[in-house]
Amino acid sequence: MQLSLFDIVPEADPAEQEREEIRSLRKELEEQNYRYYVLNAPLMSDREFDEKMHRLEALEKKHPEMFDAKSPTQHVGSDIAKQTSKKNGNFEQVAHKYPMLSLANTYSEDEIRSWLERVYKGLEGQTEMEIVCELKFDGLSISLWYEGGRLTKALTRGDGVKGDNVLSNILTIPNIPHTVAGEPQDFEIRGEVLLPWENFERINRQREEDEEPLFANPRNAASGTLKSLDPEVVRQRGLDAYLYYVLGEELTGNTHFERLNAAKKRGFHVSEAIRVCHSVEEVMDYIHYWDTERRNLPVATDGVVLKVNSLRQQEILGYTAKTPRWAIAFKFEAEKQCTRLESVSYQVGRTGRITPVANMEPVQLSGTIVKRATLNNEDFIRQLDLHEGDFVWVEKGGEIIPKITAVEPSKRGLDARPIAFIRTCPECGAPLIRYEGEADWYCSNDAGCPPQIKGKMEHFVSRKAMNIDGLGSETIDLFYEQGWLRNIADIYSLQAEQIAPLTGFGERSAERILQGIEASKEVPWPRVLFALGIRFVGETTAKKLARSFPTVDLLREASLEQLVQTEDVGEEIAKSILGWFADERNLLIVERLRQAGVQMEGEAPAEPTGNALAGLSIVISGVFQHHSRDEYKALIEQNGGKNIGSVSAKTSFILAGDNMGPAKLEKAEKLGVRLVNEDEFLQMINQ
Ligand code: IVH
Repeated sequence: MQLSLFDIVPEADPAEQEREEIRSLRKELEEQNYRYYVLNAPLMSDREFDEKMHRLEALEKKHPEMFDAKSPTQHVGSDIAKQTSKKNGNFEQVAHKYPMLSLANTYSEDEIRSWLERVYKGLEGQTEMEIVCELKFDGLSISLWYEGGRLTKALTRGDGVKGDNVLSNILTIPNIPHTVAGEPQDFEIRGEVLLPWENFERINRQREEDEEPLFANPRNAASGTLKSLDPEVVRQRGLDAYLYYVLGEELTGNTHFERLNAAKKRGFHVSEAIRVCHSVEEVMDYIHYWDTERRNLPVATDGVVLKVNSLRQQEILGYTAKTPRWAIAFKFEAEKQCTRLESVSYQVGRTGRITPVANMEPVQLSGTIVKRATLNNEDFIRQLDLHEGDFVWVEKGGEIIPKITAVEPSKRGLDARPIAFIRTCPECGAPLIRYEGEADWYCSNDAGCPPQIKGKMEHFVSRKAMNIDGLGSETIDLFYEQGWLRNIADIYSLQAEQIAPLTGFGERSAERILQGIEASKEVPWPRVLFALGIRFVGETTAKKLARSFPTVDLLREASLEQLVQTEDVGEEIAKSILGWFADERNLLIVERLRQAGVQMEGEAPAEPTGNALAGLSIVISGVFQHHSRDEYKALIEQNGGKNIGSVSAKTSFILAGDNMGPAKLEKAEKLGVRLVNEDEFLQMINQ
């Protein structure tokens, strides 16, 4: 065969290929940095990220002509939200006194050995070298500024040059001192903010119950928490902090270890696991010990940090653009296991959402036995290309929830069939539906599917809806099992004589439940409308709808055109409302609720838009009767005021409910900040 000139494809220039790879890795790593630090939703594992970063470093070294100060190898990943994001737009940004750097890292013990050699060589003429070994905590770095002995600022790493001042949230962490005695009075201390495993699991359990997306790992949860704009939320989550680096002009001591000990004596939370090592073997022993022992720690760690102890030697070694040369992180491998998929089962959530679950041959992973893992949704199964009887790789890195990361293709049987996602509900047999643009399938039988019935009931009695205290989810389950509750209207037919004989109840609790039910009959129409649980009709939409449709009959008779005239109600919501009222069973429920005395009509209060609170900074504290805390927050803002998290001399007044926190009360008294009760407040804004 003869080749014509046109058939000869120019051979790709290998150098150009590498330059292209540099460009593409830079782009990919920047995107990952953003997903990791800002969105808290990384798409690749830490290991994969580190490998790509190492590859980019090697290529850039080979191609100095490609140097770019903006490359991800030259700067730390930024946690500062882009201007367009509201996420943490409300924190003041402050320039770091000393740049907040990252650490070089490796997964290889050999590389640790060569780093130790390199460092020793770099200290020519010095005979002694000590290495401090510490745990690498897997949270968010924080820089605390003490001025005149008081904690005045708490900055996130940000882009390494400037960070967000999240002081109001940091003040809620119990083991961070607000003031310190002794010298020096002006210094900076850095460390890691973490969410202990125990609290992480508690929060995720609650989120699971509320069908909110789970936090993938404690780091993501801690990061989301620290950037929350409400310090009260932060306090409830229960963050912790470990400190590992002291900086300042007036510090004494010649070594890192001495400085950490001095900080510990002044009341800072410094880890007990710190060791000063004098040989390579001691360093390796430390690494090996903690690779397994870390499983017994209350917080997440992802490696070990080695630091040259002498501050003089640190100075000699200096810094690169991104990392100190006197420190390195050895990162632990996420534990992985290969096991057989036995079956896929399907869970039905309270909104009818179907979650596929992989049941696997039990396998030991990071100290626990794993036999189940979520498969998220149909797309995830398809992406994995999961087949019946496949062998799958399960990982449990920094994440408590085991994840299937891949299928092992070499072990697939010849006749294995792809997993076919179910099309009918495993609880009630009804067909499943997938709404446009959503990844999840839902059971269509929302009025008759048991988990959905119970879910609707839980929503109906919840605090922001009918607020029926005595009916928790366990009680609802129990009454459902008894056959007393099949829909929300059945709640109003419950009898004290039925409930009292049940184990664990008695007359008093039966009475309490009925009182709660009775009280719910006073709940105004907009909240009742929200409580009905019509898809897409949240708290705010319900209020707006109730203003346009002051009775349930008007709402039921409304046409699509009329519905969409309501503020914030688009076609999707309107169709959902029409669909709900088109169902005979719902009409019956409405009728029964009306008969029971539930408020199915009533003017919704007009949206107050006064200026009564202009220029005032108001703290909300305690529990309220007439509105939820969120509602009060909205009322403050609608009236020109500002809701702030903690009491200071600048606080105008505290909107005080029942059971106000003693610390806030004490501070208010000390600073002479006025307390305003709920009724006074509502008068102030003419409600
Ligand atoms: S020292 C200049 N020590 O790891 C070096 N960092 O991947 C300052 N980290 O940004 C850091 N545990 O957030 C140091 N014992 C420890 C640490 C630690 C966790 C974090 C820190 C840093 C990141 C680098």
